[in-house]
Amino acid sequence: MEIKVIAGDITQIEADAIVVNLFEGEQPGDVTAVVDKALDGAITHLVKNGCIKGKFGEVSIIHTLGKLPVGVVAVAGLGKDQDFDLEKMRGVAGGYCRSLRKLNCHRIATVVHDVAIGGINPEVLVEAIVEGGLLGLYKFANYKKLEYEDVAGIVIVERDGDRIPALERGVRKGEILAEGTSLARDMVNEPANYMTPSRMAEIAREIASEGKLEINIFDSGDMEIMGMGALLGVAKGSKQPPKLITLGYKGDEGSKNAIGFVGKGVTFDSGGISIKPSKDMGEMKGDMAGGAAVVAALGAIAKLKPKINVVGIIPATENLPSGSALKPGDVLKALNGKTIEVMNTDAEGRLILADALSYAVKQGLSPLVDLATLTGACVVALGTGYTGTFSNDQELVGKVLETADMAGEKLWRLPLPEEYKEQNKSEIADIKNIGNRYGGAITAALFLSEFVDKTPWVHLDIAGTASSSKESGYVIKGATGVGVRTLVELALLLAEGGMRI
Ligand code: BES
Ligand code: ZN
Ligand code: ZN
Repeated sequence: MEIKVIAGDITQIEADAIVVNLFEGEQPGDVTAVVDKALDGAITHLVKNGCIKGKFGEVSIIHTLGKLPVGVVAVAGLGKDQDFDLEKMRGVAGGYCRSLRKLNCHRIATVVHDVAIGGINPEVLVEAIVEGGLLGLYKFANYKKLEYEDVAGIVIVERDGDRIPALERGVRKGEILAEGTSLARDMVNEPANYMTPSRMAEIAREIASEGKLEINIFDSGDMEIMGMGALLGVAKGSKQPPKLITLGYKGDEGSKNAIGFVGKGVTFDSGGISIKPSKDMGEMKGDMAGGAAVVAALGAIAKLKPKINVVGIIPATENLPSGSALKPGDVLKALNGKTIEVMNTDAEGRLILADALSYAVKQGLSPLVDLATLTGACVVALGTGYTGTFSNDQELVGKVLETADMAGEKLWRLPLPEEYKEQNKSEIADIKNIGNRYGGAITAALFLSEFVDKTPWVHLDIAGTASSSKESGYVIKGATGVGVRTLVELALLLAEGGMRI
């Protein structure tokens, strides 16, 4: 889809629809007022009789009947002026783009200047419009033809020509973030018979060649040599060969340091011998959402080119039961030498991350952020709206919370209490892979903390946020692509010297 910024007057634009904005409880202002005038006061009339309220997410369609070159004007409700922010803008744009697509409006025009208020800079506002619009229009149509046609293009109409370069920058960044998030959504939505560890590696190769990233794909032989007993243990039950994928972006040639992003890539989690109930087991095709986010974030970072080095690490495997599968009671040895007693083969994410995090530490990557659909317990604790966030470093977690907020991804910090470590103690090995009945997201995070040494680290448990059961704003039913935008914004912030690394 093409997104353009042009200088001009919105009332003269040739398109299928134009979108103007309205705050709740306010009269049409600025561009909305100009369009209202061209429509002989239709908007003010509809506002007066209560048909248009300007409520957040409301999309009111007015047919222009020849009064404007476009057939349709959509009045997008922005909600209350004082509550308005970038995340609201993303949601509004996602909603109106989808409404217009349903009406077969394939060329959409809108403006930025009438909502560029409250101190929000138009460059970031247009970025939010583009991001929200593209993500709201996202669809997964690899196996079924959908009944609607794609939107062909969005035009941002700006009357002040001097502002065009800044708006173009905003459009470009919005596109890059939306493309990255859509790639992660695609990977997660793919069925597990297609999205195997090998397919993840192939996609990583494509991203690497497009973005000139360094790539390594380690197979089970390499893992054996390196001593990745935990990842190999999980992979044993499956016929699909496991892959450890690393992607390297070098934006700061002068520095030896690199930050590390690690993503859980379980392409299907049946639970293994500790098998899951069959109800909803199919959702476990999305157990590689953390890995997908890391691949996609690296791709987006390569396009945005921040002055920083970033390495993405994705341990990818299936978790299946079979005659060769890992069994409860088995003991595995991770890359850092620690032995793990496997009490439950369904707690496999922490096993593969044990090796991936140890590998990241061994490579000297710092700080580290991992993303994983790790525990059902996190979903019980926080629901599906918040990503569980754990850290051993106050400064780093502050930055991650800040960047997630910019990206519109909701995080909630949970503690890592020393005294709960007791629960992970094993009678026969250094550690065991499950705690007791309570605080499961925390004991899982404490398990991971054993493999990061002293490296500043944030763990994001995205079990609840990686997919959505309903459509809303720029979120579509299915994969959300969570984490991509936070990781990218974090790389940009750290590149600007946002933290000692
Ligand atoms: N992939 C699951 C966690 C999960 C649950 C992700 C729901 C998305 C939605 C993970 O591997 C798992 O099975 N965890 C177990 C751990 C338990 C055995 C200690 C869980 O949460 O039940
Ligand atoms: Zn599991
Ligand atoms: Zn899992």
